[in-house]
Amino acid sequence: MTRIAVTGGAGRLGRSLVAGLVAAGHDLVSLDRSVCDAPELADVAQIAVDLSQADAAAAALAEARADALIHLAAIAVPFSAPEDVIMRTNAGLAVSVLGGAVRAGIPRIVAASSPTVLGYGAPTGWVPDRLPLDEDTPPRPWNAYALSKLLIEQTIGMLQRQTGDAVRFAAFRPCYVIAPEEWEGAPTQQGHTVRERLDDPALSAPAVFNYVDARDVATFADTLLGALPDIPNGEVFFVGADDALARRPLAELLPLFYPGTEAQASILTGTSAAFSNAKARRLLGWRPQHDWRSELERIDARKESPAWSSTAFSSSR
Ligand SMILES: NC(=O)c1ccc[n+]([C@@H]2O[C@H](COP(=O)([O-])OP(=O)(O)OC[C@H]3O[C@@H](n4cnc5c(N)ncnc54)[C@H](O)[C@@H]3O)[C@@H](O)[C@H]2O)c1
Repeated sequence: MTRIAVTGGAGRLGRSLVAGLVAAGHDLVSLDRSVCDAPELADVAQIAVDLSQADAAAAALAEARADALIHLAAIAVPFSAPEDVIMRTNAGLAVSVLGGAVRAGIPRIVAASSPTVLGYGAPTGWVPDRLPLDEDTPPRPWNAYALSKLLIEQTIGMLQRQTGDAVRFAAFRPCYVIAPEEWEGAPTQQGHTVRERLDDPALSAPAVFNYVDARDVATFADTLLGALPDIPNGEVFFVGADDALARRPLAELLPLFYPGTEAQASILTGTSAAFSNAKARRLLGWRPQHDWRSELERIDARKESPAWSSTAFSSSR
């Protein structure tokens, strides 16, 4: 059992990550702005702290007495705040939290970056050299959120140059995270349901049709923390589903939303995703266990069963 501190543990991804790591047998402590009464955190230690204050962050990280840190706390949505605020907040948190963790003696440190570092959606156009996208694709951020995420990856490099291999680091770029309740119809991060994102490709196109089940992010994080001493230090991983969040092949869809990608996208036939998760499979042996077709089929099958109809009927009265 490892004692794992999660910053942003009360957030959308944080709650599922904490629940998954508790289920895997770890001892968790969540560091967030305030104590949260979500059921996923019911039996989890929580420290309320503004992590942007370096002294407070360092004290909270020391108090956490953790063997490992997963840093999620951030402004998590591009353009949800003024560009300078996003930059200051996310870059500042990277330095205060990751630096504070090193000073607190936490030997394994992982931070959430984002696929947006690659720069898709740039108003001046975006044509990748090749598809699928992977960790060798050059980052070309075009907004403060994406740049701040690249800076988090660079902060890891900076700290690694200070500590050598005494501390083991990694960054991961989770695709569009779908929490368990969102398969059931709760709104996803951008406010639409999963089915709406599938029915209208224009809703999923800004994320290049990527997604990952939050429970798969938890198994990824668990696997990564276990493997950190044995893999090269400071690696970056995409964490995505095996398939695309789309009803049609991306070979057809991508060129509609990203003009000029016809040739590169032609390889994305069938259910192929635009983002490769092969590195996580190769270095960690991790594979996602959830996909949108199985999740929605399971829910549809349950709704068609007589037991569900009678429950729905009695609860609707
Ligand atoms: N959700 C996704 O689809 C997605 C995709 C790629 C990357 N990410 C990254 O994963 C991480 C988590 O995303 P999320 O969707 O759970 O975001 P979220 O906004 O739901 O959660 C972020 C949490 O961080 C906390 N936080 C922010 N500033 C803080 C501060 N100064 N002190 C203490 N706590 C603070 C917030 O209170 C919140 O609980 C973020 O770094 C985000 O950029 C998320």
